[in-house]
Parts: sequence; C-alpha cells; structure tokens
Amino acid sequence: MNTDGKRILGIVGSPRKGSNTHILVERVLDGAKSMGAEPKKVTLGELDIRPCRACDACSKTGKCVQKDDFHDLLEDMENSNIWVLGSPVYWWGPTAQFKSFLDRWYSINRSIFRGKKAIVVAPLGGGSVHYARHLTGMFEDIFDYLGIVSFESIVVPSVNKRGEVQNHPDILQRAFETGKRAMET
Ligand SMILES: Cc1cc2nc3c(=O)[nH]c(=O)nc-3n(C[C@H](O)[C@H](O)[C@H](O)COP(=O)(O)O)c2cc1C
Repeated sequence: MNTDGKRILGIVGSPRKGSNTHILVERVLDGAKSMGAEPKKVTLGELDIRPCRACDACSKTGKCVQKDDFHDLLEDMENSNIWVLGSPVYWWGPTAQFKSFLDRWYSINRSIFRGKKAIVVAPLGGGSVHYARHLTGMFEDIFDYLGIVSFESIVVPSVNKRGEVQNHPDILQRAFETGKRAMET
C-alpha cells in the first residue's frame, strides 16, 4: 500500500463528551488507519489554548508569546499532511474552542499551511446544511487565503443529541471512505 508516508491529524472542537464531532473525526481517522496510517487526534477542550490577545508580538518574532498547548499542537500540524478539522455549528459558526484555536493561526508562518489537505467535519442540530453555511464559508475563505487544499467537507444536519450520528451508518461510511481516499490521493 503506497500512502507515501502521509500523516493525518484529527482536531476535535466540540466540548461535549461522546460528541458527534468526535465520532465523525474518529471515523475519518479509522479510514486512514485502514490504509496504514497511525493517526493522531486531539480534543481542543482538553488542551490549554488561550484566545489571541492581539499583542502583535508574533509579527516581530513569528511566534506567539503565550505559553500554552498551542505550540505542541502546531508542531503536530506541521508534521502532518492531512488535517481533519471538526467543529459543530454553534450559533451559525464554530465553537469557542475552535475559534480560539483558529485565531492563534494568526501567529504562524504562512508557509506551513501551503498544500496541507483539510477535511472539515461539521455536525449540527438544525435540519438543513444551510445553517452551516457561515461555518463552511469561513473555512473556504481561510483555506483560499492560506493555500490549504480543501479535500472534503462532511456537513451533517439533524444530529442534535449526543452521539446521534451513530444512527447514520451511511454518513459514518462516508467519513471512513474520506479518510481512506485522503491517504490515497
Ligand atoms: C451553544 C450551542 C449553540 C448551537 N447553535 C446551533 C446553531 O446555530 N445551529 C444548529 O443547527 N445547531 C446548533 N446547536 C446544536 C449543535 O450543533 C448540535 O447539538 C451538534 O450535534 C453538536 O455537535 P457535537 O455533538 O459534536 O457537540 C448548538 C448547540 C449549542 C450547545
């Protein structure tokens, strides 16, 4: 199996235990695992990642001055080729945990983003993908701006309860296949 040593990192932005986001990200990583990958997964809520303070020190040093878990996560991001970015829809946008993480990207040397492959995972309680349009639009614009390659977006409406996505084997299969394909291509 030739997967060219590609590495995949899952980032879970839901604060809920047993979250739909976690289940979906895990399925994508399982697909990658079936291709020989050894994925890594982090849950933002379990890390200390503080919001950007707009001190602008990073514009001089290229590094964020805050001493928290962002730096280790950044190293994991640099060392992987595929990022699975998972956030449920909260008020039409990402969760606070995910937004804090994203804002910290401001400090990063742009070159690390170029050519990374991103898979977006976004469950939501509402009954239409329409309610995820700002979240997916935000990702599209960020990816365009930073040169990240958008590989697939898995938006799952009508899953409001904890773990409800387990009742949708078709969606879980799609997540699995996405992880597999991301390793192949
Ligand atoms: C604070 C909060 C805000 C939410 N806002 C929205 C929303 O704007 N649109 C929507 O469709 N669902 C909304 N939901 C429902 C979640 O998207 C839904 O419960 C989803 O399954 C959560 O994913 P998770 O299990 O991965 O945490 C919200 C839930 C919370 C707790």
